[in-house]
This record gives sequence, structure tokens and C-alpha cells, in this order.
Amino acid sequence: MTEPAPQPAPTGGPHVTHTPDELRGALADAGRVALVPTMGALHGGHRSLMRLARERADTVVVSIFVNPLQFGPGEDLDRYPRDLPGDTGLCAEEGVDVVFAPTAETMYPLPQMITVDAGAMGERLEGASRPGHFTGVLTVVAKLFDLVRPDSAVFGAKDAQQIALVRRMVADLNMPVEIVGAPTLRDPDGLASSSRNVYLSGAERASALSLSRALTAGRSAAADGPDAVRAAARNVLDEAAGAEPPVELDYLALVDPATFADAPADHEGEAVLAVAARVGTTRLIDNVSVTL
Ligand code: PAF
Repeated sequence: MTEPAPQPAPTGGPHVTHTPDELRGALADAGRVALVPTMGALHGGHRSLMRLARERADTVVVSIFVNPLQFGPGEDLDRYPRDLPGDTGLCAEEGVDVVFAPTAETMYPLPQMITVDAGAMGERLEGASRPGHFTGVLTVVAKLFDLVRPDSAVFGAKDAQQIALVRRMVADLNMPVEIVGAPTLRDPDGLASSSRNVYLSGAERASALSLSRALTAGRSAAADGPDAVRAAARNVLDEAAGAEPPVELDYLALVDPATFADAPADHEGEAVLAVAARVGTTRLIDNVSVTL
């Protein structure tokens, strides 16, 4: 998918709320509600989520909250890009009705004692590299669902393990929310849109393109089975490890899309080829679906 063109801003802009009470007031008589949960630093990828939300709702709510619970020690919580005025402007251009931008104190007035355990699926891949990350994600998503009470919620497919876990949470905990996945938006050079791309220098960005190249190479080998997919992607990443600056691979995995367990050598049907790597100080993830 390529970048959706910005729309002229309608007059008025979204109703910006910061507290649960303000949010409840803004959602009186809201009709069907679609939620787009975000951490802000909004870009074209978020625009496409908002447009999917608009198709299925009378009221579109965008939450903007850099959730401390999903960042581990030494991660980029403090330097994560924050720009509420810019984000509100983008939401206005997309005709978003309500922005919910709480503070950490509003979301977590007490130290959070009760959390949503992401289970074994939350300990693989991203969860192995970022212990506790998915507990933080699922806990804040559950809180947002409770505050907004949406009929549907739209998440980007770039965070494939996240959306699989959210789907599973909704099924296991009987949450009455339809989960909608939006295709990954890519820049013309193939780099997946991400709020963290702003950290990349020109040279780092050039190295980072090997992630999408590896995924494309892997997918092209699908006819030869899972091991060939992994090998083709690995070749590109091995070469990128010697680039300047180097691509430091965290993981490359071909997994079952529902469980995120490794696809065995005789796997048939849908799979997700997922990669995570560090370029300079920036950690990037990407994935494609592969039909075997
Ligand atoms: O994908 C994100 O931006 C975050 O993980 C989410 C879903 C908004 C929860 O903080």
C-alpha cells in the first residue's frame, strides 16, 4: 500500500479529550464507534487506519497515548516522538471525530497491579526481545476498549504479533469488539511506515531497506516451502549484516499467523514471515504474509 494523500482539513477538527469524563461526554449519542489506538507521531500509515475506521462507524475515535507499561528499561520511552498539535491536525484532515489523549497519571492513577497476561504467544519473537511488552500492550488496549466501548478497533498489520494477540484477547475474554487489520503502508522504496523511521539517518535508512528486501525474497521462494523461504530471506540479511551501517538481526521467523509458533518444514497454507533488526540505535520490525 502507498501513502494516502492528505485531505483538506474540515472546519472544527476533532473534539480533543484528556480524561475519561471528557471522553464519555464526547461519546454521548455517538452511534457506531470505531477506535484507532495509537501512540501518536501519526503518519500516512495511521491515515489508512483512520479511513478504514471511518468506513465502519458513525464516530471515529483516535487514542494518542505513549504507554509506559509497554516499554522496557533502556527502551525509547523518553525519546519516543510526541507532537499532539501535529497529530490533532492530521486527525482533523482525516475527519476524526474524537481524540483521546490522556496523561500517564490519568491512565494509571495507581501503580497497575492487575494486568492482561499475554501467555506463551506473548513470549515469542517481539515478546522474547522485549519482556513484558505485550502485557503492557494488552493491558492498555483492554483499558482503552473499556473507556471507549468501540464496536470495532483498527490496528496495523505491521505489528503482526500485536494484532494476533489482540484478536486472541478479544476471543478469550469475550470482548464485544470487532478487530480490523489494516495492510502495512510502505514508502515507495519499500520501507514500512513507522513512527520510529524519524530516528533513521539517510545511511541508516538505506541499510534498513534490507528488511523489506529480505521479506520480498522470502515470499518469492514460497513455492519451494518454508525452509526455502527462511533461507532466501536470511541470505539478504546476512549480506546486510556487512553493510555500513550494519543491520543487526534480532530475529527472522516464519510463523503460523494465529499462534506465532514456528512454521514446520511441511507447513502449508498461510504463514507470516517476520523480521526485527537494529540499525544504529533504531529497532525496526516488518513482516509479510506468505502462502505456502
Ligand atoms: O501499536 C501501537 O501503537 C501500540 O502498541 C498501541 C496498540 C497503541 C498500544 O499502546
